[in-house]
Amino acid sequence: MSEIGAFARVAAAAEVVDRRCGTVPELAVILGSGLGDVAATLTDAVTVPYSELPHWPVSTVVGHPGRLVVGALGGRRVAVLAGRVHTYEGYPADAVAFATRVMARLGVRQLVLTNAAGGVNTGFSPGTVMIIDDHINLLGANPLTGAHDDRFGPRFPDMTEVYSARLSVIADEAAAARGVSVAHGVYAAVAGPSYETPAEVRYLRAIGADAVGMSTVPEAIVAGQMGMEVLGVSCITNMAAGMHAAPLSHDDVLETMRAMRVTCVALLEEIVGRL
Ligand code: HPA
Repeated sequence: MSEIGAFARVAAAAEVVDRRCGTVPELAVILGSGLGDVAATLTDAVTVPYSELPHWPVSTVVGHPGRLVVGALGGRRVAVLAGRVHTYEGYPADAVAFATRVMARLGVRQLVLTNAAGGVNTGFSPGTVMIIDDHINLLGANPLTGAHDDRFGPRFPDMTEVYSARLSVIADEAAAARGVSVAHGVYAAVAGPSYETPAEVRYLRAIGADAVGMSTVPEAIVAGQMGMEVLGVSCITNMAAGMHAAPLSHDDVLETMRAMRVTCVALLEEIVGRL
C-alpha cells in the first residue's frame, strides 16, 4: 500500500519544479539528441539537474545531458528539458512521458518536441527540418497503458490532431521569417535501439512515414491526453538505412545535429517568440 501512484509522483515533481523555478513557464521545449546546449541560450535561467527532481527518470544516452532549465527565450518564459529518456533504455513509456506530465501539471499549455530522425521521404536530405503533422506509433508501447487516472485526462483520448495545426502554421511563419526552409510530414516512432533494416525503411515509406525515430510519440500522446498544444520538429540527421550507401552511426547523427544546431536554435527562438 505504500507504493505511490503515477499522479502523486507527477504532483511531487511538479511541486519541486515550482519551488525551484518560480513562475510557471508559458511553454516547454524538449530537446532531442545533440540539441542539449540550446538550453545555454536561455537568459535569467535557473537550472535543475534531473537527479534533483523526485521520481524523474535520468537518461543514460550520450548526447542527452539531463537537466531542466527555466528562463527567457524569444521574449517568453520557457522550460527547456535538455535530455529525455527512451523506451529502448528500458524505461516504460509512461516514464518516458513523465516530464511532459509534470509540465502539464504545472500549468504549461504548449509543448515543443524536437528530435533527431532518419529521413524516409526520398525528397529529404540530411539537414532537412520537418514539422511533424502526425505520427505512427510503432514503439509497441503506449504511455497510457495500465491503471487509468482521470486527473490526467480521458481514458481514450482523441488523437485526431495531436500536433496542433495552429502551432504548425506559426512554425511555418517563423521559418519563413528566418529564411529556413521546412518540410512537413509524418513521424514514425520505432523501438530501436538498432537502426532499421532497408526492408523496414521501405515498409515505413509504404505506410506513409516521412521520418523515423525512437522518441517523441510517448510525450505527444500524454500531452494530447492532458490537452496541451503540441508542435513537433524533426531534424533529419541522416537518410534512413538503405537510402545511402554509408552505414548509420550515432556519432554521425550527433555530428549532423551539431551542424544543424545554429539553424535549430534560431528557428526555435523565432517559433517560441510567436507562440
Ligand atoms: N532511425 C531511427 N532513429 C533515428 C535515425 C534513424 O535513421 N536517425 C536519428 N534517429
